[in-house]
Amino acid sequence: MGENNNELDILKESAKEEISNAQNEQDLNNLKANYLGKKSRLSEIMASMRELSIEKKKELGQKANEFRTKIEEFVENKRQELLEKLIDAKLKNDAIDVTMPAKKFKTGKLNPLTQTIRELEDVCTGMGFMVEEGPEVEEDLYNFELLNLPKGHPAREMQDSFYIDENTLLRTHTSPVQARTLLKSKGQPIKIICPGKVYRRDNDDATHSHQFMQCEGLVVGENVTMADLKGTLVKICSHVFGSDLRVRFRPSFFPFTEPSVEVDVECFKCHGDGCNLCKGSGWIELLGGGMVHPNVLKMCGYDSEKYQGFAFGIGIERLTMMKYGIDDVRNFYIDDERFINQF
Ligand code: PHE
Repeated sequence: MGENNNELDILKESAKEEISNAQNEQDLNNLKANYLGKKSRLSEIMASMRELSIEKKKELGQKANEFRTKIEEFVENKRQELLEKLIDAKLKNDAIDVTMPAKKFKTGKLNPLTQTIRELEDVCTGMGFMVEEGPEVEEDLYNFELLNLPKGHPAREMQDSFYIDENTLLRTHTSPVQARTLLKSKGQPIKIICPGKVYRRDNDDATHSHQFMQCEGLVVGENVTMADLKGTLVKICSHVFGSDLRVRFRPSFFPFTEPSVEVDVECFKCHGDGCNLCKGSGWIELLGGGMVHPNVLKMCGYDSEKYQGFAFGIGIERLTMMKYGIDDVRNFYIDDERFINQF
């Protein structure tokens, strides 16, 4: 019996040693089974207890229990230690060096055309305009007919177009949104702008593109006059070019406005003295506009005796080219960062 007692002490020492050398969970589980499992020396010793006196049985039983508790304690302590080691290693590997310089964060820029549109929206919504949208694939009805351009009208030719079928085309201007908004508003006053893409069959060169952008404006109400058109345009141009500028009207023709005007704005560079930008004239030709033609009002369900309106169409490319001194319209569409980042 003393032998067994002794043996357990020796076993405990070797277990302590082996467990402390365990490399991983698997080692630990094996060791625990070796020392405490069914085929362990402990099991054998326990089995031999039958032959012992009650007293010795009790003594050895106690010893065996202590042994079992001790081994379990070694194993659990080692398990904890291994786990901590694992976490430490992980933390070390994943560590962030806060002294490293930060990665450069590249911010994109908005295309200058988008910037111009945002500026227009800014100043116009400030004056109470709503921003409308319309489809780029448009019906002949809206693009031409409701704008007082019946089939066969010679003015259609100025906007030689991309047709999809006889009655469907890529819109040649943003003016169809005038007709759409008039019909939608059912005789009520209107104050909208509509920026967007338009298409015309054109040979692309430095100042022409088959696809470009416009911003339409339409105001309909009682007692709306040309003076309102002028005041609105003065405000818009002054905002976009950043200083107070005069605006002048020259007579023109559009089938959907009467009278129609071509609008020049005072050259923001020389303020009228004449320079290379305005080609010596002191004025920059910027947009078309006029008073909404009574036929358009009538066709769209408005009482043209009671209501008047003005409309204008600004070329976004031209406005942006003037503002920044850009000399080739194609630059806007090639997505070259070196170009875009200048604005
Ligand atoms: N839609 C005309 C164009 O593209 C511009 C315009 C708009 C003229 C509104 C008068 C009124 O040339």
